[in-house]
Amino acid sequence: MTDVSSSVSADGASSPVSPVLRTLFRSEQGGHEQVVLCQDRESGLKAVIAIHSTALGPALGGTRFHAYASDEEAVMDALNLARGMSYKNAMAGLALGGGKAVIIGDPEQLKSEELLLAYGRFVASLGGRYVTACDVGTYVQDMDVIARVNEWTTGRSPENGGCGDSSVLTSYGVFQGMRAAAQHLWGAPSLSGRTVGVAGVGKVGHYLVDHLVADGADVVVTDVRRESVERVLAAHPGVRVAASTDELVRLPLDVYAPCALGGALNDGTVPVLTAKIVCGAANNQLAHPGVEKDLAERGILYAPDYVVNAGGVIQVADELHGFDMERARAKAAQIFDTTLEIFAKAEADGIPPAVAADRIAEHRMAVAHGAHGARVDATLVGAQG
Ligand SMILES: NC(=O)c1ccc[n+]([C@@H]2O[C@H](COP(=O)([O-])OP(=O)(O)OC[C@H]3O[C@@H](n4cnc5c(N)ncnc54)[C@H](O)[C@@H]3O)[C@@H](O)[C@H]2O)c1
Repeated sequence: MTDVSSSVSADGASSPVSPVLRTLFRSEQGGHEQVVLCQDRESGLKAVIAIHSTALGPALGGTRFHAYASDEEAVMDALNLARGMSYKNAMAGLALGGGKAVIIGDPEQLKSEELLLAYGRFVASLGGRYVTACDVGTYVQDMDVIARVNEWTTGRSPENGGCGDSSVLTSYGVFQGMRAAAQHLWGAPSLSGRTVGVAGVGKVGHYLVDHLVADGADVVVTDVRRESVERVLAAHPGVRVAASTDELVRLPLDVYAPCALGGALNDGTVPVLTAKIVCGAANNQLAHPGVEKDLAERGILYAPDYVVNAGGVIQVADELHGFDMERARAKAAQIFDTTLEIFAKAEADGIPPAVAADRIAEHRMAVAHGAHGARVDATLVGAQG
């Protein structure tokens, strides 16, 4: 039995409410339109598809394949991630809502063609209300399998009409966000002559270093994997290396780019940060509510993570129209203007940029919701602008 607490219903009777249901129906983090629990006994599939909002269009978000500590934790993760996608897609200016799916279990042991096809049939059953893509534990080749049984799968291989590796435009978008931050703080949209620390030079981080070096930045990197660092040094021998993230954040930096895991901005890192700008690819950089204020109080300009790392979702979303890299790149370039808009609103309203971004995203969803209601039809998938 899971953590179940009691609550008092309208008629005064006490009834148990699970944390998942409390989140879904009673908290500010809830408000999801639909949550689908999926099971296929033959293949061992257990999955959760969470649709947070279709106010702006079909709910797009990746499929995470992960061995959760409990089924409840998996549902919670799907709920939180789906909500995050609503905000990310709204801020990216996409005609798409937010959703996310999780497949429960160790992908190393459980992943099979049969299971992926069973999952794909559940995506098909939603008739286009949910559009899937890659996430932690799922890859382009998995999307190719899932796409065999539905037309609402993105993140496929180029041979199958897909956009391939989405980190190409994720890094490009982060670079645009960083240029915007430089413009806002220093009056010019350039990192030339600035020292930029990149923590995590995996798929996104290493492309980001390419952009920074080309722009004339002095780059310092760190990564727990030696191979990741060596790949960067092979391409850019002038790049410097810090022994750890802990060392990197204490070096004299102009910009800090967290590109590894979530929670990079926390009570340990914010007080010692030397950078005046934080702009990176990692999801969920703020370790807890209030960190955005700590950054603002230290005079550090924070470019909200989900705004600047939206290039990847922009790239996969373009598949819905027949993938065109140049069109997707042009859309990702708009992250520059969006980031500037957020900084301007933050300054005007006297709020941190993270709060300004949330307010703009919520406004966009509310306006769309008022205009055509929350529910979308599968036919809208092909009709987005
Ligand atoms: N790939 C995308 O398109 C995309 C889109 C949006 C957001 N993101 C986010 O960006 C981040 C990076 O994604 P990615 O696709 O490059 O992942 P990745 O796994 O390819 O790269 C992450 C890198 O960080 C390194 N790392 C892990 N822990 C570290 C630590 N403590 N210190 C330093 N380095 C560490 C890893 O060794 C790896 O090289 C993730 O948070 C991801 O959720 C990625």
